[in-house]
Parts: sequence; structure tokens; C-alpha cells
Amino acid sequence: MRHLLTLDDWTPELIEATLELASEIKRVPDQFANAMQRRTLLMIFEKPSLRTRLSFETGMTRMGGHAIYYDTSTSPMGAGKESLHDTAKTFSRYVDVVMARLFKHSDIEELAQHATVPIINALTDLAHPCQILADLLTIREKKGDLRGLKLAYLGDSNNNVTHSLMIGCSMVGMSVAIGCPDGAAYAPQPEVVQIAQRWAKAAGTEVNITSDAHAAARDADIVYTDSWMSYHIPKAQLQERVELFTPYQVNQAIMADAASDAIFMNCLPAMRGYEQTAGVIDGPQSVVFDQAENRLHAQNAVMVKLVEAATNNAA
Ligand code: CP
Ligand code: NVA
Repeated sequence: MRHLLTLDDWTPELIEATLELASEIKRVPDQFANAMQRRTLLMIFEKPSLRTRLSFETGMTRMGGHAIYYDTSTSPMGAGKESLHDTAKTFSRYVDVVMARLFKHSDIEELAQHATVPIINALTDLAHPCQILADLLTIREKKGDLRGLKLAYLGDSNNNVTHSLMIGCSMVGMSVAIGCPDGAAYAPQPEVVQIAQRWAKAAGTEVNITSDAHAAARDADIVYTDSWMSYHIPKAQLQERVELFTPYQVNQAIMADAASDAIFMNCLPAMRGYEQTAGVIDGPQSVVFDQAENRLHAQNAVMVKLVEAATNNAA
């Protein structure tokens, strides 16, 4: 059974084919109006969401299918009354595909281990692959060929979006520079760095991590940041994190280090005056709402690919 738990579960060829399909779905949506006819998507949420819930649910509607929103706070699983094993065995008898937004990455791995339908990671503390497929689609639209581009990511880097960007970009031939404070608590996890560096070596590109925000941003084609206060970070850490991450804020000076035609990205939600200034996110280089829209098209392509693979598997 093929799932999407992290991008390196997939091959670069499958990622490229999915981006191609996403562009096609975006260009001629009517041709995919029945692609999910009589199919049901289960959407399991342990954390909040605007984009992920709306884009998956709308995506199913547009392709002729149905989506069920399932909040774990009102579920036997969330109440500790039902195991992940039994939950996965049960939902596999009803639905065709599942997306889950969970805290622990090991929980989504356990669901996938016992499910007989495809599981899509819609964000765990470790990874956010759907976001990065949408980002790559957006970058392709703005810049053309992905190969040879440099993406700079600044800010909290012990972070799901950072991890998936490092892996996704290096799989498709892009270089990545991370600018973050020193120390394991704020830097990408070492296993992720190793995976990204392996892909980068194969592609002849680079993955660099530095505490110098300006060095990271230098000549970048894309400047990317994410929240300093991810959903799983306790509110009590706000002050400490603002002090730590302020040198990594994306502002006009950082954008001036990047290429003159660089684009600015943020997966959203964003806080103006924190991880970026209002001038940057609301300015002409920002593509954040194109990014948000592309969640819909990229995920539709993911669902088509996974359901197709599962159907062929069963045949
Ligand atoms: N970017 C993203 O996943 O947004 P939500 O948390 O609103 O789903
Ligand atoms: N890193 C952020 C991404 C939100 C889409 C978080 O986990 O909250």
C-alpha cells in the first residue's frame, strides 16, 4: 500500500509526476470532476487548521467525492478508549483514503502500518509533505524549472515544514540554506539533515545550515519562513522564542540579500511583525496566497495518485 507519510517515501519521479498532474487538475478541473466519484476521504484532526481542512474537503467536492471531518477530541481514539490499531482496521472498512494531522509522527506510522487504504500525512510534529508539494508547484509556476534553484529558510528549523522542505527540495534538485539559532532545539533534526544531504549529493546540490541569517539568504531564489509558535509549542515559550528568532525575521534587509527576483513564501498561518514583517508578506515578492491555493491542486493530485495505486493493487 502506497502512503504519503514523508516525501522520501516517494521517488523524485513520482513527485514530478504528481506536480505535473496537479498543474493539469488546476488547468482543466472539469476533466477531473468525477475522479473521486463515490470515494470517501476521512480527515482526522488532532490539531487546528484552516488551509488543510478547507483544501482537502473542497478538493474532494470538486472531484465528485465526499470528505468526513473527524476531530479526535470527540473520538474514542482521542479519549484513549480505542487503539490506533483498531481505529485503522475500522476506518479501512469504510473509506477509500485518509488524511491525518497528528502530533506524533510515530502515530501516523502506526495508522499506516495497520490501514488497508492510503494514509496522507497532513502534518505531524516531524513533517508536512502536502505543504511542500504545494510549495514546489508554486515555485515551478513562478520560476519554471526547479533544478538549480536556491531556497533559503529562516527561523524555527526544528520544524515540520523545514524538514519537509529540506527533503523535498533536495529530491527535485534544489539547494537549501537554513538560517537558525545554534542548538539542537532550533535546528533541523539530524536524521532529516542526513536524508536531505544524501539526496543533495546525488543531485549535485547543497544543504547548508548556518546561524548567519544573511549568509543563508544570499542570492536565494526563494525566501521561506514559518511560524515561531507551531501548533505544538506551548504559549509560555512565546517571549523566549521571539528573542531567539528575531535575528531570523524576514524583513527588507533579508530580501535585499536574496536574488532581485526572489519570491517570499510562508505556509501560513503567519504573524506579521514576528517571522516576517508586514511589508514583506504583503509586498510584491510575496506569493503566500498562491501557495495556499496550490494546497488544493497538489492534494487533489496526491489523492488521485494514491487511490489509483490502491485500486491497481487490489485488482
Ligand atoms: N499551512 C497549513 O497547513 O495551514 P493550516 O494549519 O491552516 O492547515
Ligand atoms: N510549523 C507549523 C506549520 C503550520 C502549518 C506548525 O506545525 O504549526
